[in-house]
Amino acid sequence: MASAKDIASAAALLRAGRLVAFPTETVYGLGADASSAPAVARLYAVKGRPAEHPVIVHFASASLAFHWARSVPEAARRLAERFWPGPLTLILERGEKAKDFVTGGQDSVGLRVPSHPVARQLLQAFGGAVAAPSANRFGRVSPTNAQHVRDDLGGDVDLVLEGGESEVGIESTILDLTSGDPVLLRPGKISAAQLEAEAKIKVGTKKPGSAPRHSGGLERHYAPRTPARLVETFRLDQEIARLGDKVAVLAFSRPDERVDFWLRMPREPHAYAQRLYGALRELDSTGSELILVEAPPAEPDWAAVVDRLRRACGG
Ligand code: TXA
Ligand code: MG
Repeated sequence: MASAKDIASAAALLRAGRLVAFPTETVYGLGADASSAPAVARLYAVKGRPAEHPVIVHFASASLAFHWARSVPEAARRLAERFWPGPLTLILERGEKAKDFVTGGQDSVGLRVPSHPVARQLLQAFGGAVAAPSANRFGRVSPTNAQHVRDDLGGDVDLVLEGGESEVGIESTILDLTSGDPVLLRPGKISAAQLEAEAKIKVGTKKPGSAPRHSGGLERHYAPRTPARLVETFRLDQEIARLGDKVAVLAFSRPDERVDFWLRMPREPHAYAQRLYGALRELDSTGSELILVEAPPAEPDWAAVVDRLRRACGG
């Protein structure tokens, strides 16, 4: 775990316009001073991310976060009260502090107050706003430990803060509150039903093909290098029989002796999410031609995991 000294160095680096990777409860983030155009430009260059994609801005508290919004709807206050610090990002109309270089030129800004103790200490020590996408190269699987970050970004990041394995394992739930109708832009550990119950709102889902600037909305995102395919349980056996030792398998069931690389996943969605990206990285490194993924049950509890699996499988 990062020491007090590491946190102080990280905050100093951020102030100097440098890049710091840090743990959050969802995935590791690659942080830059969100008020500095050159720092954010460097962040985009290292990520390999198109400049018109907005980035989430991280804060130590809800009151600091809301300074970046032009107005804060009642629903946002309720949700912040209940779920921050935690794995929820709110999209609000941007205030003056949110410049084009963090919003991708949009009139909205993504705000998040993470709960991981190292993230909180860093944000408190820095005091300002930290722009942070997941600390992987654009389009690849998000990192859930410090080693994943070093594997992906190597010397391009000035410091990686150590914070163990990310507890949630998949990116934050994103809720767009910029119009009268709240829209779930990305499912996550906090479900649409929880948001609805807490804020007394009705949450819609985005229409396929809409919100083109939401990079998590690109079909092939969060993807391993090896092609991956979702397979219903009843077809798994026949696919293995057909493809044999060329495949690696991510499944609920026990390993099959015909397959060399098999990872068995938990039957509970939160535990599955926590393991997911590490498992994809592991299977990606086996040199297999294809990753077969046993499809989880079609139930609301699995929505966030299924969303990430679909993207990993190319939409
Ligand atoms: O869990 C997370 O949210 C992680 C950790 C590091 O906090 N961050 C993360 O950031 O996933 P990133 O940049 O990889 O994904 C953020 C998503 C992107 O799809 C981005 O386009 C979208 O949020 N986003 C950010 N600001 C937005 C805005 N103003 N309107 C719509 N989408 C926005
Ligand atoms: Mg990402």
